[in-house]
Amino acid sequence: MTSTGSGDETDGGEPLTGDGVTPGIVRIGGTVRRPVRPFTRTVQAYLAHLHRAGFTAAPVPLGTDDQGREVLSFVAGDVPREPLPAETAGDDVLVALARLIRELHAASAGWAPPPDAVWGGIPGTETSALPPVDGEPELVSHRDYCPGNVVFRDGLPAALIDFDLAKPTTRLYDIANALWWWAPMRDPRDRAPAFTGLDIPHRAAVFADAYGMTARQRQDLVPLMTQIAHRYHRTARAAADTDPVFLRLWEQGAKDQLPRAEAWLRQASPAIAERLTEHTSRRTSRP
Ligand SMILES: Nc1ncnc2c1ncn2[C@@H]1O[C@H](COP(=O)(O)OP(=O)(O)O)[C@@H](O)[C@H]1O
Ligand SMILES: [Mg+2]
Repeated sequence: MTSTGSGDETDGGEPLTGDGVTPGIVRIGGTVRRPVRPFTRTVQAYLAHLHRAGFTAAPVPLGTDDQGREVLSFVAGDVPREPLPAETAGDDVLVALARLIRELHAASAGWAPPPDAVWGGIPGTETSALPPVDGEPELVSHRDYCPGNVVFRDGLPAALIDFDLAKPTTRLYDIANALWWWAPMRDPRDRAPAFTGLDIPHRAAVFADAYGMTARQRQDLVPLMTQIAHRYHRTARAAADTDPVFLRLWEQGAKDQLPRAEAWLRQASPAIAERLTEHTSRRTSRP
């Protein structure tokens, strides 16, 4: 893991490279500076709402600095990178993440974005013909739980950073994104070694229990996951055509891994769906 609890700052700040998607991120003392993008103001309004609503497991929005950069509070902890280390493969990690997302959803519900809200997206997909897969929005949420966006403390997910893909969505889409990364929903050969042999249907059920997924959400998860896997494949290809960072990610493995994830999910889907719904009927049949 990358420890973000301490840093030797210089005048220009300590560079934070992360997954390398956003250039120019630096830490200066207790703050992080990031380039301002069209959606920055909207995301800061969302973060401000979250803190007002009592969800403090996210950066505090601190406006912009004299260089015109976004300023956020630095969130102390450890941020894992791919390949995920063995200590992040336990069910306890999934449970903590599910609870964190549940709290985020509770704090987000009912927040109406400003009328001039601008949201981010993956480059190259803004104007494309790809239909949205999120569904009719229920709330604004994070939508991008990749390892580099989850801060661990004492070995468990404790906070979320990088709200660049936040926008109106559904609870189920958000859950599906978290499981995509953390079940994870991909071919065993494309997982970190500690995740290769894991029982993915079991892990989906663990997450579902910890989040408190409804019977309807349990039923709808697998069909949505199938759509999402296909969508992420198409999105990655469209982004690779537009942006050199995404071209690098595509060439480094996404071009093989994403079709493999779709194929793996097709064969794994029945078992995942069964485990999720079996569990519901067992639970609901209890007196
Ligand atoms: N507010 C923050 N607190 C702590 N670490 C941060 C913060 N923002 C970014 N980082 C660190 O910098 C890395 C990259 O930042 P991130 O906002 O995720 O950008 P990217 O768009 O490149 O994924 C993160 O993975 C994390 O290690
Ligand atoms: Mg990130």
